Amino acid sequence: TPGVRPLVAGNWKMNGLRGSEREFEAMLERARADRGADLMICPPATLLMRLSAIAGNGPIALGGQDCHAEVSGAHTGDLSAEMLADAGATAVILGHSERRQDHGETSAQVAAKVEAAWRAGLTAIVCVGETEAERDEGRAVEVVLGQLQGSVPEGATHETLVVAYEPVWAIGTGRTPTAEDVREMHSRQREGLKARFGKAGEAIRILYGGSVKPANAAELMAIANVDGALVGGASLKADDFMGIAAAY
Ligand code: G3P
Repeated sequence: TPGVRPLVAGNWKMNGLRGSEREFEAMLERARADRGADLMICPPATLLMRLSAIAGNGPIALGGQDCHAEVSGAHTGDLSAEMLADAGATAVILGHSERRQDHGETSAQVAAKVEAAWRAGLTAIVCVGETEAERDEGRAVEVVLGQLQGSVPEGATHETLVVAYEPVWAIGTGRTPTAEDVREMHSRQREGLKARFGKAGEAIRILYGGSVKPANAAELMAIANVDGALVGGASLKADDFMGIAAAY
């Protein structure tokens, strides 16, 4: 999107132990030379503080993978947005399909989490995406626009919101939609964002996620209204992640 700086973000999901610091250091090393896009890694929360100590004010930002909608209280096992910010995150992924599926998160719950993220000063990376069955039924656009509408509260700007379109059937499968399908879906989301947020909606980044690899990144990132990538498996290794970032 003209005038929009792309974002390549890595979602480590439930992967990474202490040794992953070395992979992150290798990414940082290479990121210093190579900066056509903003870069971010969203490690498991257990690694946030450690990676934050290494990252300093360097070229790779850090994000969480989920947060609770409340600020504090009796919620065993949960983390607040403020805790993520305190641990060094500047963003948090919300409404990932794995949370929607495995934890039954609804768009209304995701919207409440987005509000919590904003209160803590975090950028919300809101994920949307249709299942294969929904696509086969011809409902992909309707599902994605419905999730977008329901998961994003009023008042979003390009600084507080990033959208990630991740077709569920493309996650971790090595399959990707056709360029034409991605173009269509991103353009429909752009229209939705503009209709709701006006000028601000023009600059909100819409990432593509789902089996992004070094080999397909350039093609996917060249599609109109694709403003970067949310990368799972290929964000675990510095070579792969920086290979994707090299699309910019
Ligand atoms: O959030 C990123 C993710 O769901 C995509 O995963 O492994 O297909 O890149 P992967």
